[in-house]
Amino acid sequence: MQEHFTLVDHPLVQHKLTKMREKSTSSAVFRQLLREISHLLAYEVTRGLPMTTTPIETPMEAMEAPVLKGKKLALVSILRAGNGLLDGVLELIPSARVGFVGLYRDEKTLQPVQYYFKVPKDLEQRVVIAVDPMLATGNSSVKAIDLLKEAGAKDIRFLCLLAAPEGVARMKEAHPDVAIVSAALDRQLSDIGYILPGLGDAGDRMFGTK
Ligand code: URA
Repeated sequence: MQEHFTLVDHPLVQHKLTKMREKSTSSAVFRQLLREISHLLAYEVTRGLPMTTTPIETPMEAMEAPVLKGKKLALVSILRAGNGLLDGVLELIPSARVGFVGLYRDEKTLQPVQYYFKVPKDLEQRVVIAVDPMLATGNSSVKAIDLLKEAGAKDIRFLCLLAAPEGVARMKEAHPDVAIVSAALDRQLSDIGYILPGLGDAGDRMFGTK
């Protein structure tokens, strides 16, 4: 298994993330940067995928060449902010199957409320990558992983952009088998569950809804 928490400290990721955090960055630029970072994060979260070989013929000779093993990956976006990461990851893994988990955060209790769930078949036979830019309290991430496991998923990875220590700890307690890949581990949560220093509300920054 991968490490429980992997920080992607690549210079390009860190530079783009700084621009995303900056409050004057427009939604259009924010989305573009997220798409670019998603490619780099997708590279990291798919590290160590099971491989096999297949016989092919190059113009020169026959060879046994490496290919991914097993059924197509499943990418699961935790709505709505997950879609920003999903688009970029799909560009790198275009044949992946795609699912959606609709959860919103009750701003009083900070607890996740489910409103949608649609995932690919045969989840138990696929590597599942759940995507959500913000791992904050961990409440919605834990709930999403609960739902994916109930649907049969056994090999799950979690991809985010920013994580708070509280969210990482909550995920580790609830789902120690789920490897987390993130571009940053921020300082703490605010008293209303926002990541500090963070980047604000990822969905609002992405879609200009504030
Ligand atoms: N969700 C966000 O969009 N931002 C945060 O800081 C925390 C949760």
